[in-house]
Amino acid sequence: TAALFDRGLLSGKRVFITAGPTREALDPVRYISNHSSGKMGYALAEAAVDAGAQVTLISGPVNLPAPRRCQRIMVESAEQMLAASLENIDQCDIFIASAAVADYRPSAVAEHKLKKGKEEIMELHLIKNPDIVATVAALDHKPFTVGFAAETRDVIHYAQDKLARKNLDLIIANDVSRSDIGFNSDDNAVTVVGHDLVEQLPLCSKRQLASKIINMIAAKQVD
Ligand code: CTP
Ligand code: CA
Repeated sequence: TAALFDRGLLSGKRVFITAGPTREALDPVRYISNHSSGKMGYALAEAAVDAGAQVTLISGPVNLPAPRRCQRIMVESAEQMLAASLENIDQCDIFIASAAVADYRPSAVAEHKLKKGKEEIMELHLIKNPDIVATVAALDHKPFTVGFAAETRDVIHYAQDKLARKNLDLIIANDVSRSDIGFNSDDNAVTVVGHDLVEQLPLCSKRQLASKIINMIAAKQVD
């Protein structure tokens, strides 16, 4: 392990990370999205690079510079994020899904800007997006797959449910009901849930949290 340490805990490993929100177009000028900043995913990319990994960061629209020494692929929609995630997935050792993927998208994208009608109420038809992390975890030679779970209640219970349902190896649970942390914060507190593991990581910067999470993933991967 001394040699391993010298070269970095993830030396020689290929890590794919999804980050940020997705944008689901309604017409040429409008979309449905969420407030994800991408900070956690970008911090994970930096920590994985520091651990010696070869990192591909698949990013929705965010206001962050590309981390150094990583390949960044910018996407907008969930469908684009899925396609980018599956590209070269056979070479991926560790897949980390930190993106806040829109669960639904407009069922059709209008070719032209929608006009305001006379009606007081407008109805939107949405259809379910593909589940990116579940799709990756269902592959024959699946990488070590890590998800996130943003919950407002019963955090551990829902995280364990998602871990099982999506066939994940590890899930990072986030209590988004706490007002001191969240989507745009520089800090976060999470609970790491595995099949034989529940570990709380107390409030700290997303940078510090990212390197703790990367260390835990590396340890799980080795044993
Ligand atoms: N995820 C994904 N593709 C989706 C939806 C979610 O890859 N279409 C991933 C997220 O990146 C995250 C994990 O699945 O790693 C859990 O996301 P979350 O929104 O908490 O779970 P959902 O299954 O969408 O359930 P819900 O939103 O109803 O809690
Ligand atoms: Ca969701």
